[in-house]
Amino acid sequence: MRIVAWLGLGLLAACDGTEGDGGSPTDCEGGASRTEDILCLEPDTVNGADVYVARCQVCHGTDASGLTGLGSDIRGKAASETVDTIMDPPAGMTESLQDIMTNQEIADVAGYLETL
Ligand code: HEC
Repeated sequence: MRIVAWLGLGLLAACDGTEGDGGSPTDCEGGASRTEDILCLEPDTVNGADVYVARCQVCHGTDASGLTGLGSDIRGKAASETVDTIMDPPAGMTESLQDIMTNQEIADVAGYLETL
């Protein structure tokens, strides 16, 4: 698995000279939680736009600026917040998104919202 530059730097900084097992808390290979796994993926924001239309638009509007009485304005949301929200949805938001969406789809839509 590809290790991104900042993680590599972090591992270098933490290196004590022994052959490590990659046990850093920010390690993307550990599978510590589904949320961490998703945030380690490289988002495809073009696909994220399609995922948004399929899964989110009905409540958050065509441009993600929100619909009165439904979902609010989520343009520019941090990816970590979007992933947390899908994993633990507020009242009125579809509970099953986490079951019907793949990790990559969640990463893609979270990355897409950051671009708005
Ligand atoms: C059935 C309607 C519905 C669907 C579908 C839905 N949401 Fe929501 N969402 C809501 C409601 C209701 C809230 C709570 C009110 C609010 O803050 O928007 C919410 C909240 C959120 C929030 C937190 C907003 C904040 O500022 O606290 C995010 C982020 C979010 N939704 C993202 C998504 C994404 C991404 C999708 C698609 C994968 C999605 N939602 C699909 C209804 C929905």
